[in-house]
Amino acid sequence: MKLQKDFSEVLTRPVFEVLQKAVAESNDKSYVIGGFVRDHLLNRSQKKDIDVVALGSGINLAITVQKKLEGAKAVQIFKTYGTAMVHWKGIDIEFVGARKESYSKESRNPKVEPGTLEEDQNRRDFTINALAISLNPENYGSLIDPFNGLKDLEKGILRTPLNPDITYSDDPLRMLRAIRFATQLDFTIDKASFDAISRNANRIDIITKERIVDEINKILMTQKPSKGFVLLEKTGLLQRILPELIDLKGVEEIEGQRHKDNFYHTLEVVDNLCENSDDLWLRWAALLHDIGKAPTKKFKPPIGWTFHNHEFVGAKMTYKIFKRLKMPLNEKMKFVQKMVFMSSRPIIIAEEQVTDSAIRRLVFDAGPFIDDLITLCEADITTKNPERFERYHNNFKIVREKIILVEEKDHLRNFQPPISGEMIMKFFNLKPSKEIGLIKEAIKEAILEGEIPNEKEAAFEKMKEEGKKLGLIFHEKAI
Ligand code: CTP
Repeated sequence: MKLQKDFSEVLTRPVFEVLQKAVAESNDKSYVIGGFVRDHLLNRSQKKDIDVVALGSGINLAITVQKKLEGAKAVQIFKTYGTAMVHWKGIDIEFVGARKESYSKESRNPKVEPGTLEEDQNRRDFTINALAISLNPENYGSLIDPFNGLKDLEKGILRTPLNPDITYSDDPLRMLRAIRFATQLDFTIDKASFDAISRNANRIDIITKERIVDEINKILMTQKPSKGFVLLEKTGLLQRILPELIDLKGVEEIEGQRHKDNFYHTLEVVDNLCENSDDLWLRWAALLHDIGKAPTKKFKPPIGWTFHNHEFVGAKMTYKIFKRLKMPLNEKMKFVQKMVFMSSRPIIIAEEQVTDSAIRRLVFDAGPFIDDLITLCEADITTKNPERFERYHNNFKIVREKIILVEEKDHLRNFQPPISGEMIMKFFNLKPSKEIGLIKEAIKEAILEGEIPNEKEAAFEKMKEEGKKLGLIFHEKAI
């Protein structure tokens, strides 16, 4: 990979000029380190945060810098970690004193001791994240790379500065970071690192669920998340994080009938979806859409393999997974559940004749999420048979067109009954009773079947007709 090694534009930015001056005034040598340097070299869209390491007090340097940056917010100091943060014009500058660290076995919280630059670089996760740019007068702007991070960047390799067993065991989150960076940057994890991750996979259990999910979300937000999930599976991490996905792995054959490997199918669906949607939650829905297939799998001759009710079971599992991973149990979870629950509906429609009433019911049930649902279902087409592939896609085109037509006519996306329960009660002079529900249901059914349009007048006539059937009397005055 060709790297952008020229830092001259960066070094003349106002924020860097201020950093340079502040460092020159202090007695402590300081460096920009980590993601900022990495992403500049890779020519990736510029990061908004800058990490600065000081051979001394990062907090004191932060205070000096803050005073020099006009309009900067007050310095935020995190005493326990000896770090400080300055926010200025949308940029976050984080200051930390160089340290050598060792983490305790039980938690991620490090014991911190001051260290040299090299010691600080040494304790970082990857050689490509240990690259530093000097902010000091004698060599302002020069790159300090004791672990060949530049070479690893060029070759696209993730390697730890220390023995990987130590780096990962010190902070097991780094195992996920390795896989996340490999996916984001399309890098390869160095063999020794990969083996160390596989050996230390169980150490991921000491990491909080929130941080794990953060990394999974980042993997899901890449262009091709399948790469990350395959690595998670191969290292044994996925088994500890999302064992439900592992249960989808494998192909069984009975009486010459095989089902597809639902793990790799799922990953293909996720990749397909990512080409058409940046919505994290729809990406989660793609990841979980077949999750119910493992517990519902049965071989039923003469039909063959069945996954009866897997969507319903999958929706229930979605809730359990979100809960276990401490993910939000709010409308986002409900959205994912709904997508999982409805994930087979449009396919059935697209396989058969696309009738208007089937479309109306689909729009009614999916409500505002109908477009997301179709996007998910299109991604679900992974057949390798080109003729079938085209036919399914064409059918979905018809489904999309029909949705627009039905929507223009009947506005079912945010369905509100055209006749309310109160109107029915008033018209037939009824107290709350089951008849009201029956009439409302009959009106809704008539609309969905296309017998009447979704309009008040037609619904009113239908209400009278249903009332008559139930033997109800109405007051002419009420009309
Ligand atoms: N770091 C580390 N181990 C971790 C987390 C971070 O060694 N578990 C170091 C790396 O040197 C990293 C730097 O701290 O570059 C900053 O961390 P962070 O901001 O989390 O990551 P970035 O590398 O900046 O990348 P991104 O913003 O994409 O997460």
